[in-house]
Amino acid sequence: MIERIEAPIAATLRNGRVVTIRPLAESDRDELLAFGRSLPNDDWLYLEDDLQNPEIITRLVNAHAAENWRQIVAVTESGEIVGYSAVRRLPGWSSHVGDIQLMVRADYRRCGLGTAMAQAIFEAARDLGVAKVIVEVMQEQTGGIAIFERLGFCVEGTFSDHARDRFGARHHLHILAYHVT
Ligand SMILES: CC(C)(COP(=O)(O)OP(=O)(O)OC[C@H]1O[C@@H](n2cnc3c(N)ncnc32)[C@H](O)[C@@H]1OP(=O)(O)O)[C@@H](O)C(=O)NCCC(=O)NCCS
Repeated sequence: MIERIEAPIAATLRNGRVVTIRPLAESDRDELLAFGRSLPNDDWLYLEDDLQNPEIITRLVNAHAAENWRQIVAVTESGEIVGYSAVRRLPGWSSHVGDIQLMVRADYRRCGLGTAMAQAIFEAARDLGVAKVIVEVMQEQTGGIAIFERLGFCVEGTFSDHARDRFGARHHLHILAYHVT
């Protein structure tokens, strides 16, 4: 059994607001659904998991202690979830690779929360024991590309027309990667 790093981190953001970054818990279901429902339409269009779907939220929350998965949330002092990130070990011959997802509520963006969560999920990826981490982003997710490039990730590949959005339109998918070891 791999050790988990579970200590909550208090972060003061550039807008002066304080959030706690901690592992997702089973009791977070309602708040995580409220977070998903608060995401702007543009995000909703491009995100891999539909966080507005209660069944998906239940699946995520039920997996809070899964061996090959680490999920973290950023929580305000009043208990609202304003950020979610996850790293999941890929199966089979890529089992040394972790796949990262990251999203921040629109009114908490450009205050350093994405960076703080990206660093926390990166630590979680080390805890998971992966040698490489990747982020899959549609070409239009410029904020996501910018934040991970700033953290040292590079585009390792682009798949043409590889991802479909909620309306069925196809988009190029970039794979950004960082080699941990
Ligand atoms: C990507 C995302 C997580 C960034 O969160 P954030 O809290 O705004 O990130 P930060 O405040 O830490 O921003 C760090 C840096 O990333 C870059 N960045 C962030 N958003 C950007 C944007 N929309 N356009 C250009 N650069 C951006 C900037 O360099 C920024 O630094 P600065 O504010 O000092 O200029 C957020 O925009 C989001 O949830 N997007 C939708 C989901 C998504 O695309 N996720 C990524 C792929 S899984």
